[in-house]
Amino acid sequence: MKSKRVLAGAATALAVLGGYALWPASAASSDARSRTDEQVHTLVQAMTLDEKISFVHGSTDPESRGQAGFIPGVKRLGVPPLRLTDGPAGIHLKEKATAMPAPVALASSFNDRLARDFGKVIGRDGRALGQDVLLSPMTNIIRVPYGGRNFETFAEDPLISSRMVSQEISGIQGEGLMATVKHFVANNQERDRQTLDAQVGEQMLREVELPPFKAALTSGASAVMCAYNKVNSVHACENDELLNHVLREQWDFEGWVMSDWSATHSTKSLSKGLDQEMPLGNYLDAPLKKAIADGSIPQRDVDASVTRILTQMNHYGLLACATPDGPQEGCALPERPKPAGDMGARIAQRVAEQGAVLLKNKQDTLPLSTRSGSLAVIGQPAQKPVIGGGGSSEVIPNTVTAPLDEIRKRATGAVAYQPGLDLTGTRIPEGALEPAFPADGIDLGYGEEKTFTSQLTVKTGGLYTFNVSAPQSVSLLTIDGTDVLRGSRNKAARGAMQLKPGTHEVKLQLRAIRSTDHVQMSWVTPEAVAADRAKAVEAARQAQTAVVFAFDEGTEGFDRTSLSLPFEQDKLIDAVTRANPNTVVVLNTGSAVTMPWLNRVKAVLNMYYPGGMGGRATARLLYGQANPSGRLTQTFPTSEEHTPVAGDPSAYPGRDGVVTYREGVDVGYRWYDKTGTQPLFPFGYGLSYTSFSYSHLTVQPSRKGLDVTLRVRNTGERTGSDTPQVYLGPDSSWQGQQPSKALAGYTKVTLKPGQQRTVRIPVDQDSLRHWNASTHQWDTSRGARTVWAGSSATQLPLHARVHLR
Ligand code: BGC
Repeated sequence: MKSKRVLAGAATALAVLGGYALWPASAASSDARSRTDEQVHTLVQAMTLDEKISFVHGSTDPESRGQAGFIPGVKRLGVPPLRLTDGPAGIHLKEKATAMPAPVALASSFNDRLARDFGKVIGRDGRALGQDVLLSPMTNIIRVPYGGRNFETFAEDPLISSRMVSQEISGIQGEGLMATVKHFVANNQERDRQTLDAQVGEQMLREVELPPFKAALTSGASAVMCAYNKVNSVHACENDELLNHVLREQWDFEGWVMSDWSATHSTKSLSKGLDQEMPLGNYLDAPLKKAIADGSIPQRDVDASVTRILTQMNHYGLLACATPDGPQEGCALPERPKPAGDMGARIAQRVAEQGAVLLKNKQDTLPLSTRSGSLAVIGQPAQKPVIGGGGSSEVIPNTVTAPLDEIRKRATGAVAYQPGLDLTGTRIPEGALEPAFPADGIDLGYGEEKTFTSQLTVKTGGLYTFNVSAPQSVSLLTIDGTDVLRGSRNKAARGAMQLKPGTHEVKLQLRAIRSTDHVQMSWVTPEAVAADRAKAVEAARQAQTAVVFAFDEGTEGFDRTSLSLPFEQDKLIDAVTRANPNTVVVLNTGSAVTMPWLNRVKAVLNMYYPGGMGGRATARLLYGQANPSGRLTQTFPTSEEHTPVAGDPSAYPGRDGVVTYREGVDVGYRWYDKTGTQPLFPFGYGLSYTSFSYSHLTVQPSRKGLDVTLRVRNTGERTGSDTPQVYLGPDSSWQGQQPSKALAGYTKVTLKPGQQRTVRIPVDQDSLRHWNASTHQWDTSRGARTVWAGSSATQLPLHARVHLR
């Protein structure tokens, strides 16, 4: 069944993209398709135990292209190797690929079709670059605004996440690349990520965190990656309940479960539902062989895991040449396409444009026009564009467009540029650091550890920023015993610390984990920051309009410790607005940030991390060649004191390694609504250069759930796209915890000025159910419920009451 679905996807891809044949023309009748699951079985039987074990843990690829994982295959039988690569925003290798916008930007487009295209680009590039399995999409819920990987995932709401993940997977797999949905499950923060125990109620899991995974599997995802953390005290990668019971028994998952990188903790994991230990074998290698020999793990568990992996390979045509008697003559593996190329760039740009969220636009300051006069463009991301976040989702972009160049192409008046904040920095002078950091850097052998200790003396107090470039190492810089920066294979890890005048203890610890390394360090002094800021303020004073690009450096591995813009950019923006009240802020940030300067600026355009085509998309939006239509998929709080986890360390970041999901199903906007907490910007919110009105709400119970219709009208003067949203109020007949409003449907509609359309927004039966934690089953809504419709979680002008029987 599943192979047919994959094929259908591939056929559409060909038709739509007019691209290259993914499989030979005779593919439909080729060995790849005709090999049955029974033949997979005989293949497994023909394998030695060592050959079988080689599938259940990763190895080193002698011909690596820089991908994260490798399975060698069995040459003797014609089973090819498997190459597994990240990731969520494009193919992460040592080679160039299409750098897509961050998935959170994709989700903000609320455009399901675009999610499929997004997946197609990554699928195409991945296959073209020699890969077989993609370690993406990530679909964990955004639970806390601090989450280091919020940019890599979709939303704080399960419905939008589910729709994005299933479409994206269809796109990826339609190109012949297997998708791995990750990180299963309750992997919602980076702080203590390897050891954290997430205590999550059953209802929250079933209603919020699990549905996107279920949607991914329904869409045919080949693999699931289990998470680093524990779920209710049991490691996610040996969680019998979640892996064997939920995934396999309840959801009929036929693909395989691989561990996150070094998330395996025991050999018995294999019997608890894990099929593959990555990236190498510590438990499912020699210890597994021993466990089989002494009978503590039955051989059939290994056979089952290998069968699952091979079955997926078979569905993708990868066993076309494999037989129990050895490689078959005259057969062909699926052809590899050319990379996504121009098509990739076009889609990347479209996602960046449609995912951008216009947060504020007073006095129609945007779009820019001749009326805007001369411009001062401020901020390093204008010139050195922010492409994506850090960690395994990083991509070496094959195309980069810089906002500044693209603005200059469109501007009618003068354009001045100032970085405002230069974080490249300079070498710390000998007088300040005793002993000095070696002028030609520190060299490390592979695996070598070194510690550099020194005394830093500063005359001025203030914020000092340090950069450590250690592309092959893990690094930790502490000053006076406080962590300043941690880097893991970063070309430039940065961290800042307030220093008082005087002498401070500096300690830089390094360990080369990938290969030999050459490490450099630099700093940025408060004097340098002040000088850059002064130049920016002067440029702003002389221009009619100031456009400030602000950024953060969100990365896997670390949560943010503050919701403020880093490196005192709030001060920079504030200073610019004092010199020029006509200020526009463009955000290149990965998740919610606070905006103490919001009342002082005219407009804010949130681009997130917009990928390689982000520069062009930004300029097109600023100049009105594209009309913003993105909507927030996460709430932006007014301050750190007003978040769902404020003031309770047990809710975040956790106490003694345990984090308690005390909010239950009231994640994100649901918590704000229930507690009456005012957000800075609500979930679902986003402006346009035009405006929309809603009327004529109708709600009818249908066989599949509810049929909701409403009329949307473009009341402004430009063509634009709107995302009308439907939320469900609580069920009067149900006693358990219920959100006061939960997103239950949405659609995206493009309208010309004055045009109106009646849109249909079906509400699925799934949105009408509750998980009953006492009976461990779904209960269906039987009472009265309010159905709300409008433009965001807090702007819901229409409502109707419906009685469900
Ligand atoms: C990340 C995964 C990633 C893997 C391989 C892990 O550290 O958590 O998301 O796929 O590394 O790079």
